[in-house]
Amino acid sequence: MSGGRARIAASILDADLSNLAYAVRRLHAAGADRIHLDVMDAHFVPNLTFGAKTIKHLRKRTGLPLDAHLMISEPGRALDEYLDAGCDSITFHVEVEEEIVPILRRIRTAGRAAGLALRPATPLSALRPYQELLDIVTVMTVEPGFGGQTFMRDVAREKLLAARDLLSHKVYGGEVHVDGGVNRETAELVGALGADILVVGSALFTKGRDMGREIRLIKALADEGFQYGLNNGVPPIPRDRMVTCTALPKHIAHRFMSEIEAGGIPVVMLRGDGRINPDGVRDYDLLVPATVEAIVIERHAEAREAYQREAAAWREAFIRERGVIAPPSHP
Ligand code: DX5
Ligand code: ZN
Repeated sequence: MSGGRARIAASILDADLSNLAYAVRRLHAAGADRIHLDVMDAHFVPNLTFGAKTIKHLRKRTGLPLDAHLMISEPGRALDEYLDAGCDSITFHVEVEEEIVPILRRIRTAGRAAGLALRPATPLSALRPYQELLDIVTVMTVEPGFGGQTFMRDVAREKLLAARDLLSHKVYGGEVHVDGGVNRETAELVGALGADILVVGSALFTKGRDMGREIRLIKALADEGFQYGLNNGVPPIPRDRMVTCTALPKHIAHRFMSEIEAGGIPVVMLRGDGRINPDGVRDYDLLVPATVEAIVIERHAEAREAYQREAAAWREAFIRERGVIAPPSHP
């Protein structure tokens, strides 16, 4: 788990394409959060890169999430290959001719994150018909097709904050990606505009620059931008931090967990180190993402009280009927 809010999806477009496994290993070691895979078909964009077969091989080379960016004219036709290749997220372009909804549905049915990307000239409103099906909105801040281009500040200002609104229906999850020309000069701006995932390519493969340091610098600048641009000077909550929202006997904790998850918030249930119940089993902690802790407390305050009362009644009844069972002696 790393601190801070901004995450980097490192694009290998400008890596040595003759040795992508090495590039992926280097990026992983340097602290990249994801590997961004720019698939181009020389038709949707005037460039050709690699396809699903290459991705399938790269899948074996890293445990990092693989974030596919399909700049191809027929993402629906090729989709199964990218799902089979092990992509964790698949983003394609809203400008394609194909039917968009079925493709988004197929990606989500396969348990992957589904995203739509916009060329700079395409208005954000083009995504509105699909917003309920989106996990990712990718705002392109260069013309798709090549790395190393100049960042389009006006496009970022026009679309990034609005893209967050487009995903506001999701209590948890939903990511705004900014892709193209993101580097140490533009990181603070994209952070201040709320970008969650920064796609960074050529800036990481710049001769004479240490990849790990560049990643840390860009993340720090983006977080600083977020803190002072969007968060009233308060440091951002680290994206991956989980906090305990309550502790309950296991059989009761499960029910509360399902209730919270039904509202779209992931819960982790861990054996706690707190109270030992009369059945000799410790309470289980329910952990939720720190970023949505306030929503969980607000939404489930009464339920939490009710489950605590139920747990107290269960403990008393257990002791009355069966006494107290000592916890197992193993450490
Ligand atoms: C461009 C790609 C981008 C690109 C980013 O079509 O979608 O992901 O590789 O590279 P830089 O960071 O160099 O703009
Ligand atoms: Zn990309």
